[in-house]
Amino acid sequence: MLMTIEASAPAKIILFGEHAAVYGQPALAVPVSTLRAYAEVCPNPDGLRGLHIDAPDLGQHLPVDIHAETVDNALALTAKLVLQALSAPPPDVTIVLRSQIPIASGLGSGSAVSTALARALCLAVGRSPDLATLNHLVYEVEKIHHGTPSGIDNTVIVYEQPVYFVRNQPLETFTLGAPLTLLIGDTGIGASTKIAVGDVRRLVETDAAATLPIIQAIGEISQMARAALERGDIQAVGQLMTENHALLCRLTVSSAELDHLVVTARQAGAVGAKLSGGGRGGNMIALVHAENADDVVSALRQAGAVRVVKTVLV
Ligand code: MEV
Repeated sequence: MLMTIEASAPAKIILFGEHAAVYGQPALAVPVSTLRAYAEVCPNPDGLRGLHIDAPDLGQHLPVDIHAETVDNALALTAKLVLQALSAPPPDVTIVLRSQIPIASGLGSGSAVSTALARALCLAVGRSPDLATLNHLVYEVEKIHHGTPSGIDNTVIVYEQPVYFVRNQPLETFTLGAPLTLLIGDTGIGASTKIAVGDVRRLVETDAAATLPIIQAIGEISQMARAALERGDIQAVGQLMTENHALLCRLTVSSAELDHLVVTARQAGAVGAKLSGGGRGGNMIALVHAENADDVVSALRQAGAVRVVKTVLV
């Protein structure tokens, strides 16, 4: 019997500190293990030689040329970097990618797909790199998606654990003093993190006096949020989420749809709410009391959320 070789990686949500993380401020992110990207190693169809990547959901089927000098496709670059790092020749297989994570929605789809692909390719060549190496490779690919990424997405996804992230600092995790019931509400509007990150960078460059204090204030919220999360102070965490959202609005990375879902969630009884990830579209998160979750889910759906996922962090 043939064994299936498959690897996967989770989605992520940023609880606090997106955008500010790019400028060295702390940020907090958690994996969402119930939403995943999968990579399956399959034999090549008859007559096909070399390494191929098949991503039917993205409409992509590509051969991987590891000798190509410039590779601007994120999937092909992932494969090339992995094989280079392992000094391994391309295996004669097709890696099929499937993902439950909506793209361009702030949930780390790009990082999760790269991570699943990298893991599957390692298995295909019989190797298992350490997490730090994998994290570094996926970070290199993130630059295609995000331009100047902080590294938070690849870190939380590769390590699949809650992270208190500070750019270029060793990995720090955190623990929760009480379970968190979170709703992830999707505006259904795809948005480019690269553009949002670039626009914030322009604000920093053209109006540092107004922009840097906002970034600093977001960093302070992340620090307070970590303490509140660790002591299980749900009320304080919710309040800080709402304050974080207001600061992200001032960085111009929210949108009318995100604001509408954030306000709706709070009016329906959420303890706090904010956009999550790059913003301008994609997803927002709402912190709710478990007994109130269904009411907030209904309110978000009525307010236009195309999908609401409940996740409980313990
Ligand atoms: C994207 O998930 C998070 C951002 O802070 C960008 C980054 O940190 O690389 C917007």
